[in-house]
Amino acid sequence: MAQPALDIEDLVLEFGSGPGAVRALDGVTLSVPEGSILGVVGESGSGKSTVGFAAGRLMPEGVRPRQGRLGVLGNQVWDISIGQMRQIRRQMLRYIFQDPIATLDPTKRIGWQLKYAVEPNLSNDEIVTALSDVGLPDPEQVISAWPHELSGGMAQRVVIAMALLGHPKIIVADEATSALDASVRIRVLELLRDRSRERGITLLLLSHDLWAVRRFCDNIAVMYGGRIVEHGPAEKVFERPAHPYTLALLGATAGHEKPHETLSTIPGIPPLLHGASPGCAFAPRCNLAANRKNRDKCNSERPVQESVEKNWSLLCHHWQDQIRNEER
Ligand SMILES: Nc1ncnc2c1ncn2[C@@H]1O[C@H](COP(=O)(O)OP(=O)(O)OP(=O)(O)O)[C@@H](O)[C@H]1O
Ligand SMILES: [Mg+2]
Repeated sequence: MAQPALDIEDLVLEFGSGPGAVRALDGVTLSVPEGSILGVVGESGSGKSTVGFAAGRLMPEGVRPRQGRLGVLGNQVWDISIGQMRQIRRQMLRYIFQDPIATLDPTKRIGWQLKYAVEPNLSNDEIVTALSDVGLPDPEQVISAWPHELSGGMAQRVVIAMALLGHPKIIVADEATSALDASVRIRVLELLRDRSRERGITLLLLSHDLWAVRRFCDNIAVMYGGRIVEHGPAEKVFERPAHPYTLALLGATAGHEKPHETLSTIPGIPPLLHGASPGCAFAPRCNLAANRKNRDKCNSERPVQESVEKNWSLLCHHWQDQIRNEER
């Protein structure tokens, strides 16, 4: 079997030290096949960006895993030198963030920024092709524009063009379309998906909004409290969500409501982890854990990843009950 683009095993990462340390990742295990599109979803603070940044070892000084491993394209990112990591980022691992204008240098015209984004320096023809490939109708005009002269959608296309230059193998798009209008957002996501498919690029779409990314992913990883609580093919996760948090998240985001139905919110607040969660981090907000017969186990025993079917795993003591309820 081909090696996965991203191979994470029981990764624990903390920011800060001592009792105030925030455990952003509390044992993440995740394997992403090369060329696939993965949606990483979850509420604010669940650890999505930390997973994305960790892949490029983009961490504050001194932050190293307390436990576990993270492999990118066959390289253990904490075992290689800073120079090797930088080279991987320059050549193979690219990032797209929410605010394209902030990503671009306000003091340089777009053409200049593309020309020197990767080595070797691009020719004018190559820049025109790169901009046409992302659906910008008048590349010559964009080449001579300043970043502030572009709309949000155009600027994000420029940033995508930059991310696609050369031969990237992985693109991490962190809330890359959240700031765009709904119609522009769909077109930009389609563009990212199509270019990634054509070129066999592994795409990670990090988003708090499951519904926004649903059509674009092969697989979905749902994060809660720094762990992956459900991971499986997109159609399974959407059609038969089996983790109570996935169900709650689907009910709480736009798109899932039936006509005349209002959105529900997930009661309670997301956890802020200091040290390892003693049980299931979702237990204080979970219907299944509220049941007296489940309560002790949910609060005091850490669930482990269990396989429901091939490629579909769950982190819940009571997923079988959930699936039985679904089948009824
Ligand atoms: N550099 C940092 N220093 C200290 N704490 C951090 C740092 N980066 C992230 N955290 C903390 O780690 C946890 C996970 O944050 P992360 O940014 O990965 O979440 P997220 O799922 O991307 O959230 P959002 O949807 O808001 O982007 C949060 O509690 C956050 O406050
Ligand atoms: Mg984030």
